Amino acid sequence: MGPLQVLDLSAAGFAAASPEQVSLPPGSVLESFELLLGERTIWSGDAVVVHLSGERIGGRFTSGVLDLQHLRVGATLEGRMSLLREQSGQLPAEWRATVGDLRQLLEDARNEVEEFERAEMGDPLQRLDDEGRLFEGLLSNWGKDYYAAIARLHAMSSGLDKRAVVLGRAYASSMLMPVLMACPMHRRAYEKPLGYAGDYRTIELYFTRELVGDGLFGRFLHAVGQNYGLSHTVIAREGVARAAVRAAAEADGTGPVRVLALAAGPAIELRRWLDEMEPLRRPLELILLDQDRAAHETVHRHLTRILLERHRGASPVTVQYLHSSVRQMLKPVSPDDHRMVAETLADLDLVYSMGLYDYLPDPVAASLTRLLYSRLRAGGRLLVGNLVETPDTTWLMEYVLGWSLVYRTEETLLHLADRLTPAPSQRGITRDATGRCLFLDITSMGGALHPV
Ligand SMILES: C[S@@+](CC[C@H](N)C(=O)[O-])C[C@H]1O[C@@H](n2cnc3c(N)ncnc32)[C@H](O)[C@@H]1O
Repeated sequence: MGPLQVLDLSAAGFAAASPEQVSLPPGSVLESFELLLGERTIWSGDAVVVHLSGERIGGRFTSGVLDLQHLRVGATLEGRMSLLREQSGQLPAEWRATVGDLRQLLEDARNEVEEFERAEMGDPLQRLDDEGRLFEGLLSNWGKDYYAAIARLHAMSSGLDKRAVVLGRAYASSMLMPVLMACPMHRRAYEKPLGYAGDYRTIELYFTRELVGDGLFGRFLHAVGQNYGLSHTVIAREGVARAAVRAAAEADGTGPVRVLALAAGPAIELRRWLDEMEPLRRPLELILLDQDRAAHETVHRHLTRILLERHRGASPVTVQYLHSSVRQMLKPVSPDDHRMVAETLADLDLVYSMGLYDYLPDPVAASLTRLLYSRLRAGGRLLVGNLVETPDTTWLMEYVLGWSLVYRTEETLLHLADRLTPAPSQRGITRDATGRCLFLDITSMGGALHPV
């Protein structure tokens, strides 16, 4: 009889759908019993039925056990082979060849760098200079081909249908990640140890001058990571935020200046600004909001050190850390959430954010824009950044690192601030120095705040 559908499996027995025509009461002996995976027999021997309930029978193997580990490996391989068959059928040969070329480019760079490392060329006392020169040379030559290949794949991928995109991502990751893993910037983005890409530690890796990684090649890949188009943008957009904080802090007026850094992450702009800041005339209240406690702890350590060492604890700057999320702001549930929105996030002179809207779908981003605008005081400024799709970076992020963003244009970003009341006195777009981070830049008209 059979075949019967297997419902569950262990080393010692199985559960299966009971046959329709025959009754198999407990104790029934199943001779020459075979387990099939597709067409393949993966176990054969004798078994006995040990229970029968409704549509299900349970049995125990009586002539040996099943090697599940071996089976799992076999099934995994089976799955991989069928995935590859589908990838070969659905992804254009030229697309796959270009991914292959990209892998080859990475292998070539690895050979070159490891050769340099093996030969212990150069003077150990000059190691950093030598490495710097090696990386610079490779980036200006090899780098051109590497970033161009990514941009080519970006263009080639625009015609892929939904299923091909899924297959393409699996293909590109398994081809390229084994090589990119040597670099913590790529690895962290791919592995997402905090549950999402772009955590505060990853962002810090964009800024560090010391390159880190597994061996010389890992450090080289860190330099490669810092040189994607959007990496330059992440670095440049910090300057826009820092300038905005400075302008707010130095503005004429009386009373404290209140600034909200939303999704503050590593808050590099605040670390740098506090380090270079001149004495302030007005007290400054910095409020940092982030969902990630570890980000707050890191920033707290840095800011405290700067305020103590550089300003001897005498500057009129206070810092408040809000461990909270956009969801809690938009849909406050607990009394604390309500108090946070109504009292802490009120009378703000500046609200700024970068690396947040890129994760928010339009309806959420529009609601958040309305909420943030309502928390400004008269003449306050709202400044939110959003990255622009960038050929030499976007493909690698989406297809290889599994890091998809909501890229916006001037038009779609401005659209998020369509129906603000009272109408802002100014609504426009500010760009960072690379032109690839757009900031929705709004100045409030003032007047009464809206109830939340
Ligand atoms: C890509 S980082 C950007 C950090 C920083 N603004 C910058 O540009 O360097 C994103 C940060 O936003 C925080 N974040 C992401 N989604 C959030 C949410 N829904 N609510 C609060 N924080 C969020 C993350 O914890 C992370 O620290």
